[in-house]
Amino acid sequence: MRKVLISMAALVIVSGLPAVAELTEVPDRPTFEKDVLPILQERCQVCHREGGDDIAGMVAPMALTNYKEVRPWAKAIDKAVATNNMPPWDATELTVGQFMNERLMTDVERETISKWVKTGAQRGNPADAPGPKVFEDKGGWLIGKPDLIVKMPEPYYVPDFIRDHQPRIKFTITEEMLPEPRWIQAVECKPESENVHHIVGSAWAPEWEDHPEEFFSAGSIAAGEDPIIYPEGFGNLLRAGTEISLSMHYFKEPGSGTAFYDQSAVGFKFYPKGTDIKYKVTRGGISARGWEIPPRQSAWKIGASKTFEKDTVLISLHPHMHYRGQSMIYTAYYPDGSTETLLDVPNYDYAWQTQYIYKAPKYLPEGTRVDVMAVYDNSETKKADYAEINIDRAVDFGAASVDEMMIPFVEWSEIEKEDVDMYAKTSPRAEGTD
Ligand code: HEC
Repeated sequence: MRKVLISMAALVIVSGLPAVAELTEVPDRPTFEKDVLPILQERCQVCHREGGDDIAGMVAPMALTNYKEVRPWAKAIDKAVATNNMPPWDATELTVGQFMNERLMTDVERETISKWVKTGAQRGNPADAPGPKVFEDKGGWLIGKPDLIVKMPEPYYVPDFIRDHQPRIKFTITEEMLPEPRWIQAVECKPESENVHHIVGSAWAPEWEDHPEEFFSAGSIAAGEDPIIYPEGFGNLLRAGTEISLSMHYFKEPGSGTAFYDQSAVGFKFYPKGTDIKYKVTRGGISARGWEIPPRQSAWKIGASKTFEKDTVLISLHPHMHYRGQSMIYTAYYPDGSTETLLDVPNYDYAWQTQYIYKAPKYLPEGTRVDVMAVYDNSETKKADYAEINIDRAVDFGAASVDEMMIPFVEWSEIEKEDVDMYAKTSPRAEGTD
């Protein structure tokens, strides 16, 4: 795992986050069964257990469900939580409570673990332990069992002596697969081969010929990326005739005997029939083009902005950069002159392509401008983490991880005047901004 240095600012008490159970202060002599296990159950076991969540290929290497499993990892756990590497979540506390897939812990929880390790990682009395935490069986899908799974029509062959391969695979939803149009509530891509580096799916209907921008996301995965989940009342329509295009990236060490077949799939969860979905969701990037990051620059900034001309709600934010990506920050400039930090990721981690999905859609009044600032590190510091990068060259846009990207993804819907009050009322607002 990559070591990430964090500033003290990122360790400030996470005030809006409810602590596990009644853990409001650090016990004098914490024990595993009484004090530590409840924290692990709430903050870690969703991934760290037998059959834990597989977040686009990121699978936790060990279970942390009982003393025997945890004890050998005590020091590593202390370090992982003290440095904010675990649980994996790169946004600061500014947006605490806003995102449905948030993975954070409080300072008291962190310090309890630290004290437990310092005082000898005692087990304590098993009678003090909470009952085991039971997790829902989602059949290997983060979105739960899909209503429709569509596979690539044929297994795709990737030969021995190929390292990087990026085919685009297209197929059409047939009436057999989907007899009637259905509103999508969630989408997840499921790679078959472990050599799938990423998949970017999009969907498009032929009758949109005149509106090529009307495609929507048919899921995408890259390491640590969460699936697409739409909030109540928002979605996209899937029907026979919709074209699915999967932009695949296969990656392996070339050599004889390394050839493989892949038949990855996309799973869709639908709203119940007859659900009234008012708003389609658009996905796009607030990207800058035509930039170049000079050699050996450690803090090269690239900015971009987009003005939302109509009343809009944001559904999700998703910073995307490659190895040299260091930080990304989204800021809203409102028509009334106030500003708000929408998302602050001070230590971007390429291995965790987190999609920040709003619990309640974030309302932006018409005329709001969203600026994104991305910072890149093309210096020795990054080279220490990613030996394959060449810091003596200038880097520009490219699909390979050793090239760069500046894609601050956003999913949004324009809303009608009559709904403005409703969404404005439930819209989250960052603390500490004006
Ligand atoms: C969203 C899933 C997820 C959650 C939640 C999570 N982990 Fe992890 N953890 C992983 C994955 C995947 C890895 C291996 C890849 C990596 O290191 O990033 C890992 C690796 C680790 C490691 C090994 C680091 C090393 O030295 O190699 C430790 C220790 C750890 N996790 C502790 C924790 C603790 C403690 C928590 C809860 C406070 C936690 N994790 C929560 C997914 C998760």
